[in-house]
Amino acid sequence: MERLQKVIARAGVCSRRKAEDLIVNGKVKVNGEVVTTLGTVVSEKDKIYVNGKLLKDESKAYYVLNKARNTISSVSDEKGRKTVLDGFDVKKRIYPVGRLDFDTTGVLLLTNDGELANGLLHPSSNVSKVYIATIEGSISEDERLKLEEGVMIDNKKTSPCEVTINKVNEEKNKTIVKLTIHEGRNHQVKKMFEAINKKVLKLHREEFAGISSKGLYEGQHRKLTFEEVKSLKKLIEKKGK
Ligand code: URA
Repeated sequence: MERLQKVIARAGVCSRRKAEDLIVNGKVKVNGEVVTTLGTVVSEKDKIYVNGKLLKDESKAYYVLNKARNTISSVSDEKGRKTVLDGFDVKKRIYPVGRLDFDTTGVLLLTNDGELANGLLHPSSNVSKVYIATIEGSISEDERLKLEEGVMIDNKKTSPCEVTINKVNEEKNKTIVKLTIHEGRNHQVKKMFEAINKKVLKLHREEFAGISSKGLYEGQHRKLTFEEVKSLKKLIEKKGK
């Protein structure tokens, strides 16, 4: 959901300031109704008319970002924190496909393709997500197996996943663990480690639905290739979404 004036400005009709004037002066309709309230928010499903003319559907855009630490996975933030959109100079209404925590880095897809985004985020889509977690201390074989088989988080067992130990640093009392999970529950990785009494010091998402951020520095993004978009669409088609 986004503010009406922002959507009008993004569509290239006029500046945001001018869009506010148009709204207040009754020149804007949403789904057939005149809207004069500046706080109005709209979604991509809403039909917006400015001076009687329908705002055109945007062409679809697809990006992968290597999310930087301390950025928020949202298109705007009331507290003025940096968002994942800050490095983008894109007029289209793109938004992140799901969320990464404020302090998590790595792959985040952004698009204005609602159908694809919803399909990828649907719980039954089971798309794989690969995380690299740096945890405090070490992890025993029993604990590793527990994570793989499933641990209770928020009163529900996590589904089977793959867990490998990438590196143990005894001197620094840290272990680097790679997890491939097929769900996308809230703070899932941190909670999985919490369930075996381990603390995550750093978390990076290496891959989402087969898309990687290799070659991108933190905060950098690129357009997805035609092949990558095709592979994502195939993933959700297969599931009949
Ligand atoms: N799991 C988490 O705990 N945090 C993230 O940002 C992503 C997955």
